[in-house]
Amino acid sequence: MDFKNKHFKRYTITSALPYANGPVHIGHLAGVYVPADIYARYLRMKGEDVLFIGGSDEHGVPITIKARQQGISPQEVVDKYHFMIKDSFEKLGISFDVYSRTSSPVHHETASDFFKTLYEKGEFIEKFSQQYYDEDAKHFLADRYITGTCPHCGNENAYGDQCERCGTSLSPLDLINPRSALSGNVPVLRETKHWYLPLDKAEGWLREWILEGHKDDWKTNVYGQCKSWIDQGLQPRAVTRDLDWGVKVPLPDTDGKVLYVWFDAPIGYISAAREWAEATGKKWEPYWKSDESKLVHFIGKDNIVFHCIIFPAMLHSEGSYILPENVPANEFLNLEGEKISTSRNWAVWLHEYLLEFPGKEDVLRYVLTANAPETKDNDFTWKDFQTRNNSELLAIFGNFVNRTLVLTQKYFEGVVPPMGHINESDKETLKQMDAFPELIGKSVENYRFREALNELMNLARLGNKYLTDNEPWKTFKTDPQRTATVLAVSLQLVAKLAIVSAPFLPFTSAKLRIMISMDAADWNAAKQTLLLPDGHVLGETGFLFERIEDEAIQRQITKLQETKLANQQVAQPALKPQKELITYEDFARMDIRTGTILTAEIVPKTQKLLKLTIDTGLDQRTVVSGIAEHYKPEEIIGQKVCMLVNLAPRQLKGITSNGMILMAENSEGKLCFVEPTADFHNGSDVK
Ligand code: MF3
Ligand code: ZN
Repeated sequence: MDFKNKHFKRYTITSALPYANGPVHIGHLAGVYVPADIYARYLRMKGEDVLFIGGSDEHGVPITIKARQQGISPQEVVDKYHFMIKDSFEKLGISFDVYSRTSSPVHHETASDFFKTLYEKGEFIEKFSQQYYDEDAKHFLADRYITGTCPHCGNENAYGDQCERCGTSLSPLDLINPRSALSGNVPVLRETKHWYLPLDKAEGWLREWILEGHKDDWKTNVYGQCKSWIDQGLQPRAVTRDLDWGVKVPLPDTDGKVLYVWFDAPIGYISAAREWAEATGKKWEPYWKSDESKLVHFIGKDNIVFHCIIFPAMLHSEGSYILPENVPANEFLNLEGEKISTSRNWAVWLHEYLLEFPGKEDVLRYVLTANAPETKDNDFTWKDFQTRNNSELLAIFGNFVNRTLVLTQKYFEGVVPPMGHINESDKETLKQMDAFPELIGKSVENYRFREALNELMNLARLGNKYLTDNEPWKTFKTDPQRTATVLAVSLQLVAKLAIVSAPFLPFTSAKLRIMISMDAADWNAAKQTLLLPDGHVLGETGFLFERIEDEAIQRQITKLQETKLANQQVAQPALKPQKELITYEDFARMDIRTGTILTAEIVPKTQKLLKLTIDTGLDQRTVVSGIAEHYKPEEIIGQKVCMLVNLAPRQLKGITSNGMILMAENSEGKLCFVEPTADFHNGSDVK
């Protein structure tokens, strides 16, 4: 099957619903929203019927954990971020037809009905299983409610659904030393009932649909991930959870159970379409149920399995929906060479950018597209941001437009002059520029937005070269008709730029169209040569771009350096959860005293152990301590310590150790003495 040449009647374009537990950053924009918006705007300009869908993903464990930490309700968390995200998308010109949210009633109804349909069709398997449960918190421990050691890489703080260090997706039962994220308790296993989507049964048609059907038109990174998932063998996946935040499972006796966030969230795309239909009086079904509609999901690479395998399997089981024609997932964008991280505040936040660079929305859109992580991870740097603005947008695009318009004002009072006789080189330029709309359009249709943007700049370069070669400012005195011809040709190129830049740089395009008195930006018209007839009166000339000075860039770099510094200060080597509760009596059994180190020597044939003599006030005794990597023996003679004195003697390398010194790691991971700071005498009771 090859869908590439099929013409579709309408387009349903979705962009991953961002979690409403934090603001949006440049990584989200470059990966998902800017390319999706370019695609949607381009198709609309071609006169296509487009429904561009966005919305907030408001369920899931991280949101409830955040609410708990802040002592507010999950609804309060998502309200805050939903409106903030929606507002900043709007300001960046992301042209959603609808921006919905998954806590809305229409979504709960849609997701609930979807589940019921699958249930009634017998598409689920019901299974009882043992799941971890926190007896103190009276809470099942799904996904991020449980942490433990990753069986693949040994990361001690892996989550129940994923290890963030090695990226492996996990289930809670995979974790070594599982702990409740609520209390730090060791969880117990408890039986619970859940519904599973038998993905194993979908393998056959998934193979055919993706591995055979989309071998040539899906991006290699997307295709490769799908292939590896399918080849590893698909397992049934639970689509419900024991939680109280989410879409309630619509079956009897299922109190405390909700749909898994990754089951309900993609249905959010459908709910959003329904919301849009209600608001506009149109029908939503054609966008989801007609095979004359092209469904395209814009996402980041961490979402591939959900959009290429799980959601399609849900849609397929339901039976009345279309499947995505393409899922052009991007790789990740880094910031100044480091992975973007919300928790470390290592990001450029959209809402902050909009405040700090007012009027420069298109600059960000430009830089993120020029640098888009389409085929590999890419890096955003503030220096590159500055260079792309000053040496590309300003020096190429802005400069060409400005020269042409200023000269037209100067020589022809802002009226498009007659083109008159055109020579071979004029003809060649006109011919070349006429090819650009098609070229740019093809790249956009193939999700190659960087390439498309580069062609847009090549169009501006062509204009600059034409002006420079023909020097209309020199010919005016001797041959004013030549000046007229050259400017008339250049003005057609300006007009073409005004149109074809619109999907990428919508604010700039709008500004430019005011300067040349052109109303609509119609892609199909851009293919014509004569966009501005002679006699057409231009508007007022202004600047499209401004220089970005070093100070503005330095401010951003300093801000990031401060973040880095702050991170180092609080750098907490991921804390271990609290241990099990003990009684006061347990505590009181420990005899901890102040003491002083009298002698210290390396235990022969070891690297870590020091043999110490300690004055405990009670006696002078030997303790073997594993601190030789952190201290030289001579450094610590006279060191005051706290020490557990009633620890049963232990043999270490043939030496009897009678107690244990209290140590803790400092911020650099060095083991340090927990020092009695006052002038204690040896043997004072620590309690
Ligand atoms: N919230 C998810 C994320 O940020 C994306 C959800 S996409 C949807 O990774 F399909 F589920 F809506
Ligand atoms: Zn791991």
